[in-house]
Amino acid sequence: MSDLACTLATTLAAGRKANQLYPPTHPAFSEAMEALAEAVRSATTTGPFQINLHQGRLYHDDTPVPEDVPGVAAIEEAFEARKIESLTLHPELSQDEAIALVAVLSLRPSPSLDVEKELTDRQVTHVTVAFLEDEDTEEREERERLREQDRAAYNRLVGILRTMSAKVASDGIPDVAGASDVVGSMMKRLMDDQAAIMGLTTIKGQTETNLFHSINVMIYSLILGDALGLPEEGLSSLGASALLHDIGKAAFDHSDPTQAEPMRVMHPTVGADILSRLPEEDKAPMLVAHEHHMHADGSGYPEHPDDYIAHPYSRMVAIANRYANLVDPSSGEEPLTRDRAVMHLLGEVGTVLDPLFTRLFVKAIGVFPVGCMVRMSDQSVGVVSAPGADALTPTVRLLYDADGMTVEDMLEVDLAEAGLRIIEVVEAESLNVEVSDHL
Ligand SMILES: [Fe+2]
Ligand SMILES: [Fe+2]
Repeated sequence: MSDLACTLATTLAAGRKANQLYPPTHPAFSEAMEALAEAVRSATTTGPFQINLHQGRLYHDDTPVPEDVPGVAAIEEAFEARKIESLTLHPELSQDEAIALVAVLSLRPSPSLDVEKELTDRQVTHVTVAFLEDEDTEEREERERLREQDRAAYNRLVGILRTMSAKVASDGIPDVAGASDVVGSMMKRLMDDQAAIMGLTTIKGQTETNLFHSINVMIYSLILGDALGLPEEGLSSLGASALLHDIGKAAFDHSDPTQAEPMRVMHPTVGADILSRLPEEDKAPMLVAHEHHMHADGSGYPEHPDDYIAHPYSRMVAIANRYANLVDPSSGEEPLTRDRAVMHLLGEVGTVLDPLFTRLFVKAIGVFPVGCMVRMSDQSVGVVSAPGADALTPTVRLLYDADGMTVEDMLEVDLAEAGLRIIEVVEAESLNVEVSDHL
C-alpha cells in the first residue's frame, strides 16, 4: 500500500517539475504525465486513494510516506504552502485531469489562491481536496476587537484634546487629569502590542490635524521611552508631556494667517506658561512644552545658553515630533515615506537631535516602520503591520497579490517565512490607498 503512496508522490512531484520545465508538447512532459496517470490508476484500482499531510509529514492511512523517497519532501512542501490537508484521488481520474491537477499544484501559493476553485475551473472532478483548519479565525476576531478598542481610545483622546484646546483658547486652564487614564490604557496596550498602537499613527484627520499630531507624538515618544526601559511612572509622565507639547498653539487663532509665525515661535513659552499654572506636581510637561524645539547643538528656540541641557523627555519628544512632522507635515510640504523619514532623522543626529535617543528610536521603529507600504519580490504589495524576525523582513498585511488582484481579507505574510523580500517602498498616495484602513 505504502509503495503506491510512494510512487504517487514521486510521479506527482515529477509531474510538477515537468510542468515547470517543459511545454506540453515536449516528450518529457507527456512521459511524466503518463507515469502519473499510471500511478493514479494503480492506486485507485480498489477505490479512492488518499494521501494526507499531518504536522508537515505525508501519510497514506496511518503510515508516513518515507521522506527519502524522491519527491515526497517536495509534495509535503507543496501541500503545506497551499494549506492542503489531504488529496483524495478517485477511480477514473483521467490523464487530462492529472495534468490539470499538476498545473494547479504548480500555481504560486498565495493567500488568495483557491485550489478548489482552480480545480473546478479546469473540470477536475475526480479529485477531492481538504484543507488545513484555519486556526487563525479566532485570533483574527480577537485582533479585530482590539483594533476597534484601540481606535475608540484614540478617538477619546482626540476628544479630550479638543476640549483642552478649547479651554486654552477661551483663556481657561485645561483639565489635564482626564487624559491620564486614556494615556495609561494606551500605554498598557503599547506594551502588549506595539505594532497595533504604532498602526494608529496612520490615522489621518482631515481637520484638527494638530490633535492627531499630538497623539502621534505621544505614541512615538512612548515607543522610545519603552525602548529606553523607562519604568511605568516615567512612561506616563513622558506620554502626558508628549501629548501636551504643543498645547501653547491652542492659544493662537489658527484661522488668522498673521498668527502663524508668532504661533510657531512662541508656542513653547506660551505652552509652558499654561502648564505652569496647573496644580499637577509633575513638571515634565511644562519643561517639554518649553524645550521641544531646542536643538542638540544649541540652536532652535526659544533662545537658550549654549551649555543648556534640555530635560531628557524634551529631547525624546523632539525626536518624536520631528518624525511626526516628516511623515505628516502640517504645512503644505511633501510628506516623506516612513523609511525615508527614518533616514532623515539619522541625518539630523548631533545637530538637531540627541544622538543616543535618535539611534534608539530608529532601532525601535525599524528600517521599515509599521505603516510603510511596500512591494515584495513577487510583486505583491502590502503595508508593514509588525516587525519581523529581522529588520528587513517584517510582517506585511497584503493589499494586492502577485497578480495585482486586491486581497480582501486582512491577510498577513511573514516575509521571512514566505521567502519574500521588500524590493521597494511605495507611496500610499500613488496607489490611492488609505493605509490606516488596513492596520
Ligand atoms: Fe511644537
Ligand atoms: Fe509638535
